[in-house]
Amino acid sequence: MATGYRLMPSYDDRFSMCQATINAIEAGYRHIDTAFIYLTEDIVGKAIANVTRRGIVKRKDLYISTKLPYSVVNRAGVVPAVKNALKRLQLDYVDLCLIHQPVDMVGSKDYDNLEIWRGLEDAKRLCLTRSIGLSNFNSTFMTRILANSDTVPAVNQLETNPTYANLETVAYCQSLNIVVTGYAPFGFLVPRTLNDLSLPPTFDDPFLVGLARKYAVNVSQIVLRYPVERGIIPIAKSSNIDHIKQNVDIFGFTIDPEDILRINQFDRNVKVYRIDYPGLFQFVRDNYPFVRRYVRRNNLRQYIDDL
Ligand SMILES: NC(=O)c1ccc[n+]([C@@H]2O[C@H](COP(=O)([O-])OP(=O)(O)OC[C@H]3O[C@@H](n4cnc5c(N)ncnc54)[C@H](OP(=O)(O)O)[C@@H]3O)[C@@H](O)[C@H]2O)c1
Repeated sequence: MATGYRLMPSYDDRFSMCQATINAIEAGYRHIDTAFIYLTEDIVGKAIANVTRRGIVKRKDLYISTKLPYSVVNRAGVVPAVKNALKRLQLDYVDLCLIHQPVDMVGSKDYDNLEIWRGLEDAKRLCLTRSIGLSNFNSTFMTRILANSDTVPAVNQLETNPTYANLETVAYCQSLNIVVTGYAPFGFLVPRTLNDLSLPPTFDDPFLVGLARKYAVNVSQIVLRYPVERGIIPIAKSSNIDHIKQNVDIFGFTIDPEDILRINQFDRNVKVYRIDYPGLFQFVRDNYPFVRRYVRRNNLRQYIDDL
C-alpha cells in the first residue's frame, strides 16, 4: 500500500489516508510505503499504532519503507533524518530506507548520492533500518554506488506500468538481485494531475478486458498482476475500500508468459512521473519553497527540522 500524494494533502486527505492505511492492513496488506516528501510518515505511524494496539497485526509482520528527505545531501545528514522519520512513524526501526532521488532536489551544491549511501550504511549498522536501497536510480547512477560500496542496494523503487515497462533498468536490477518495487502501477489507466498525456491502455481496452475474462478477475487486477509476473513488487495507492480489497487479491491466479509479452507491447517508454524529463528536477527545486510554506502554514512541526 502506497501513501504518496500528487499534491500536498489537505487535513481531510490526511485523515482519510490514515483510515485507508488501517483499511489496507485489515485487508491483508503488510508493506506500507511512505517518504518524507509525502508528509505521511506521521499518518502511517498513527495507522500502525492503531492496528498493533488492536492486535490486528504485530509490528514484526509489517514491512515499512520510507525515503530520505531531499534536504539530506551528504553522509552526516542521514542518521539524524532517519531518527526523525522513526519519531514520526512511532517506530524503533524501518524495514527499508531509500534515497528518494539520485540528484539534488533542493538546490544544494553539496549533494552526493554516494555519500548519502554511506550514511544509509551507518543507519543500517545502527539498526535504524533493516535494509537500504534506492529510488529512481538508472543504471548509470547505480553503477557509481555499486562500484564504490560493499553493500548492494536491497531495492530500487522505479516507475513501472504498461506504458512504461522500464524493461532495461528492471533487467539490470534483477541481474544484480536488487528487488524492484514498481510505483504508479496503474500508469495512464487512472487520471494523472502531473501529466496531461492520455495513452493506451484504458480500463476498457479490449485486450485487457479479454485477459480479465480469461483469468476471471477484473482489469485492475490484471494490471497489478503484470508486475508480479515480472518479479516486481507493485506499490499501488488507493483510498477506496473496494479498490483496496481488489488490489490485494491478485495472488490466486497467474498470467501466461505470452500474455505478459502482449502487455509489454503497450510500452511507449513514457513515464507518468516525468522524472528525468528535461526541466523536471528544476521544476521540483523551484517549487520546494511551496513545500516549506505548506509545512509551516499547516503547523506540521514534526517535519520542520528535515525541510
Ligand atoms: N519513488 C518515487 O519517486 C515515487 C514517485 C511516485 C509515486 N511513488 C509511490 O508510488 C505510489 C503509487 O503511485 P501512484 O499513486 O501514482 O500510483 P497508482 O497506484 O498507479 O495510482 C493511484 C490511483 O489509482 C487509483 N486506483 C487504485 N486502485 C484502483 C482500482 N482497483 N481501480 C481503479 N482505480 C484504482 C486510485 O484511486 P482510488 O483512491 O479511487 O482507488 C488513485 O487515483 C505513491 O503513492 C507513492 O507511494 C513513488
